Amino acid sequence: MQDVFIVSAARTPVGKRNGYLRAKVPAELLGSVLDEVVDRAGIDPGLVEDVINGTVYQVGEQGFTLGRNAVFASKLPDTVPGTSVNRQCGSSLTAIQMAYGMIASGTFDIAIASGIEIMSKFPIGSDVGGTLPDGRPQGQAFGEFYMKRLAGKEFYNQGQAAQAIAKKWNITRLECEQFAVSSHAKAHQATQGGYFKKEILPTKGLDAEGKEIMVDKDEPIRPDTSLEKLATLKSALGTEMITAGISSPVTDGASAMLLVGENKLKALNLKPLARIRANAVVGCEPELMLTGPVYATPKVLSKAGLSMADIDIFEVNEAFAPIPLAWAKELNAPMDRLNVNGGAIALGHPVGNSGCRLSVTAIYELIRRNARYALVTLCTGGAMAPATIFERV
Ligand SMILES: CC(C)(COP(=O)(O)OP(=O)(O)OC[C@H]1O[C@@H](n2cnc3c(N)ncnc32)[C@H](O)[C@@H]1OP(=O)(O)O)[C@@H](O)C(=O)NCCC(=O)NCCS
Repeated sequence: MQDVFIVSAARTPVGKRNGYLRAKVPAELLGSVLDEVVDRAGIDPGLVEDVINGTVYQVGEQGFTLGRNAVFASKLPDTVPGTSVNRQCGSSLTAIQMAYGMIASGTFDIAIASGIEIMSKFPIGSDVGGTLPDGRPQGQAFGEFYMKRLAGKEFYNQGQAAQAIAKKWNITRLECEQFAVSSHAKAHQATQGGYFKKEILPTKGLDAEGKEIMVDKDEPIRPDTSLEKLATLKSALGTEMITAGISSPVTDGASAMLLVGENKLKALNLKPLARIRANAVVGCEPELMLTGPVYATPKVLSKAGLSMADIDIFEVNEAFAPIPLAWAKELNAPMDRLNVNGGAIALGHPVGNSGCRLSVTAIYELIRRNARYALVTLCTGGAMAPATIFERV
């Protein structure tokens, strides 16, 4: 086994639903971040042995092995292959973990892990149901086996699962709204302070009138949100307490990182940003579905031989406010180290992109703070959670 280093990492800004990334062709947007990480690493692009990409809705423009199509849209040569993996909201953290495994084992020397989702074009549910080219129904992806595991318990959508988690951990709507306000405030402060500058690849988008503009800031942040405003929002997703204000908004974005094994790092004299210290992935109870980070965190800590106290920053995806709040209550986590520059409630959650986006942000924040360890974890549809610990070097 060899150590695996992240040599470069970048992301696009996140766009709102039908916002400035709305017309982007997924392969092209992903191709732009592939080019960026290769350029930043300063390596011969032909040395990349695979592009492992995370995307959830692998249909239409996001289908047909988007990882490979993005290679064609980039400056990488034809000899670089690509693939796309799907672990729901954890897809691109899984892509990072898979790239890690291939490099650590010595199978590859260099690989890119990435994530992308253009939810403006492919909203949640885009790959469920529908018809085959010959008109036959596709059938339900979410089928009888999942229902059997529920064994007579409720079947919840994501919002209802978040509500059930809030109930189980005694989390009120007000606590969720306080957390949401602070997520927007932190993301706004980080943007104003230029903390995201190094990680964001300025990207061409469209303004409301359809005029081309260059974008270098995340679009979903609402600096003017308030507890008073959030209290007025109607509940959504068939729940009594989950509102748009305490949910991650539907968004667009792409991100990538270039991973290199220790041997090649030395041979090419590359300067790393961080290394991967440990990986884990768990399955959890299908009914509550979004509790995975609670179990993935101790598992990845134990693999790393570390404790909660050793971790400088935690990125726990804010799919809905009750998820990080339940995680923090269960693990007695320090709130001042959780999602320090805001999370998905403010910055958005382009589902397949989020694992890599959170990791890119965490690595740059470790560098900015001169800190050592970041733990990244995301709950996922299908009741799972990947978790990874990055170490600044
Ligand atoms: C919750 C959800 C259904 C809300 O969808 P929506 O109703 O289309 O959301 P909108 O963004 O239009 O927000 C609704 C209203 O709340 C307002 N709002 C939302 N967040 C706000 C905030 N922080 N402050 C003030 N107002 C806010 C919006 O301005 C909008 O107001 P309007 O109706 O006057 O325009 C949607 O965001 C969602 O599905 N999120 C979860 C996505 C998901 O499941 N991801 C995977 C996780 S596992």
